Amino acid sequence: MDEMAAMDDAAEMIIPLLRMSELISEHSRRVSLLAVLIGRVLDLSHEELHELKLGGLLHDIGKMSISQGILKKPGKLTHDEFAVVKTHPVLGGNFVEAICYPQQIVDMVRYHHERLDGSGYPFGLAGDELPLASRIIAVADVYEAMTAVRPYRPALSVCEAFAELSQANRYDQAVVQALKRALSSVNLTDLCELAREFGTPDVKTAL
Ligand SMILES: [Fe+2]
Repeated sequence: MDEMAAMDDAAEMIIPLLRMSELISEHSRRVSLLAVLIGRVLDLSHEELHELKLGGLLHDIGKMSISQGILKKPGKLTHDEFAVVKTHPVLGGNFVEAICYPQQIVDMVRYHHERLDGSGYPFGLAGDELPLASRIIAVADVYEAMTAVRPYRPALSVCEAFAELSQANRYDQAVVQALKRALSSVNLTDLCELAREFGTPDVKTAL
């Protein structure tokens, strides 16, 4: 079994654990697909696309360590509860590192809540400190989260999501433009091809 297939198998074993919260599992699969679509527009290599797929699937794995009471709370989180949630990128990154995934995937998990201007968490990294793959997961994550229904609010519109993503100080605009291009040009044939090539499931509900 080659290294990529072994990583896929490991991811598929881990994903059911995330079904403790269906919301996370669905969200992660959609982020994974969006990240691959962005990567394709940016002409990334097959290996890089594969890493994006896994980074998207696993980016919120650290939430396994956070109580369901906090994750499923319908109302606004308290300051202390949010502090707990903010630990998930580090917990997840440590987990992915412990099972010997490539550093690029560890970085995607650890840095997916970082922002270009240093306003993100947990490290407050900025600018060039953020690898391209982490910027891609960040944009896919925000777009998916905003356009999906959450327990505490209805889905926001695509326009509202892109209004957030248009903040050049926070998000890589080349990545945002790539997402726009991907969403405007993707078709069913593309999605089926991606599903075959990368095993990304749930394509019919992904966009
Ligand atoms: Fe997250």
